[in-house]
Amino acid sequence: MEKNTKKYLILTYGCQMNVHESEKLAGILESNGYEVCTDATLADIVVFNTCAIRENAEEKIFGNIGELKNIKLAKPDMIIAIGGCMSQQKNYADEIMQKFPYVDIVFGTHNLADFENLLKEREKSGKKISRICEDETISLRDQMLISRTSGVNAWVNIMYGCNNFCTYCIVPYVRGREISRPVQDILKEVESLLKEGYKQITLLGQNVNSYSGVDSDGNVSSFASLLKAVDSFDEYKYRIRFMTSHPKDLSSEVIDIISKSKHICHGIHLPVQSGSDNMLKAMNRHYDINRYKSVVTEIREKMPDSELTTDIIVGFPGETEADFEKTLAIMRFARYMQIFGFIYSKRKGTPAEKMENQVDAKTKKERLSRLLALKNEIINEKTAKMLGQTYEVLVESYDKEKDVLFGSLDSGKTISFKGTENCVGEFLDVKVTEVRKSVIYGEIVQKDKIETYSKKNFKYPIEVSILPKEKNAMKILRENKRNKKINDNKKSKEN
Ligand code: SAH
Ligand code: SF4
Ligand code: F3S
Repeated sequence: MEKNTKKYLILTYGCQMNVHESEKLAGILESNGYEVCTDATLADIVVFNTCAIRENAEEKIFGNIGELKNIKLAKPDMIIAIGGCMSQQKNYADEIMQKFPYVDIVFGTHNLADFENLLKEREKSGKKISRICEDETISLRDQMLISRTSGVNAWVNIMYGCNNFCTYCIVPYVRGREISRPVQDILKEVESLLKEGYKQITLLGQNVNSYSGVDSDGNVSSFASLLKAVDSFDEYKYRIRFMTSHPKDLSSEVIDIISKSKHICHGIHLPVQSGSDNMLKAMNRHYDINRYKSVVTEIREKMPDSELTTDIIVGFPGETEADFEKTLAIMRFARYMQIFGFIYSKRKGTPAEKMENQVDAKTKKERLSRLLALKNEIINEKTAKMLGQTYEVLVESYDKEKDVLFGSLDSGKTISFKGTENCVGEFLDVKVTEVRKSVIYGEIVQKDKIETYSKKNFKYPIEVSILPKEKNAMKILRENKRNKKINDNKKSKEN
């Protein structure tokens, strides 16, 4: 007889930190006998791993939880759990339970490691559970099983939380204070990932430069020393990336180590947020634009092949046209390879929420579109210069339908080219043969080597959705609904 395995679905919103924490939630569910599925109609449990960074993230999540209502009506035994940064906000757990009475479990960022117990409690008692923990018992997460599905990429937490309190940002309130993992734990994890065959390790923290974990002698290690140590596994070919760097803390020592390292990428994400000193001050960023420019200059001098990416907020309270033009000026100065531009979004409980001079929606939108226009101009110009150049590329994935490979340059830029699935996980020289705006296409230089590569077993995320993806999912749903009706009728007759 076929075993009837319970199925799970995890919907992830937000940053890389959340992507990785969903791998930890998947680890918990799989060690409890659950198997991943493609859509909510097939699932026995649906977990939302939420984000609260901007209002539109929250609106999308609320919309998606709403979409589950009908499926839950047809499948009353399906468990719906809401975790992550949105749930961790003050009073949100109650709001979620009130708005969506069919939700079964609400948990926060600090009790993610406890999810297994919450699940068991719910399965046993059948009662709804809402538990948000204020303590940062986070370090427990280090011992968790991780079901990695990011292909050649592996995420490694080096620290949790944030102490910076940028005035616009909700993260310090939902992630708590900074806690750094011990050096040895990180090194052990990195080494075992390399042994397992992962090729690109990204060190995760909200401000990696303020890393201060203990080393094996009991001394506090800086981010610079940690970087040196993770760069030292020379028996492997791999890349190290890290995110995110705070411009106030990115030291000359760190830049030196990156420039002399074997494995650390020269593509660096350095969020500027604004080009105006007035705005940086109001944002509580603790650097001015001169400091930022001198960091950029130092990176360029020490690594002429470096590429920068950034985050920018437009329409922060009080931002004038002159302030915004300074943001455009820093974009021209730093010539970023990628820019993530955001419209300022009010977050409850943050200092900026209460600031006067909020910028009107129309101005914010108009500034974002000017930012995007300049962004495209810069990136397209930079991309055009790549034509004919050869780069070392890490082959990250293969699209079977299109028969095309996707890889990343050291800068993080994506390139696509022809080859075979066996090339995934290899570092290959690829020549850029075509440029379309900011998109690049290439050709493997040593094609004769392709047949010497063998297939590796990387796991990728499966595409999940709330609504039916599989043909028979609606059928199952209809059957469930019919069975429920029959049962309900039976029950009411019995009564
Ligand atoms: N710790 C990282 C980034 C965290 S959030 C850092 O300091 O860079 C990612 C980005 O979201 C931020 O860099 C910022 O540009 C943006 N962001 C954060 N809060 C926001 C808000 N309230 N409105 C709009 N964008 C915001
Ligand atoms: Fe938010 Fe600032 Fe912390 Fe980044 S450094 S997470 S923007 S408070
Ligand atoms: Fe990340 Fe969103 Fe939380 S950006 S830290 S998931 S608020």
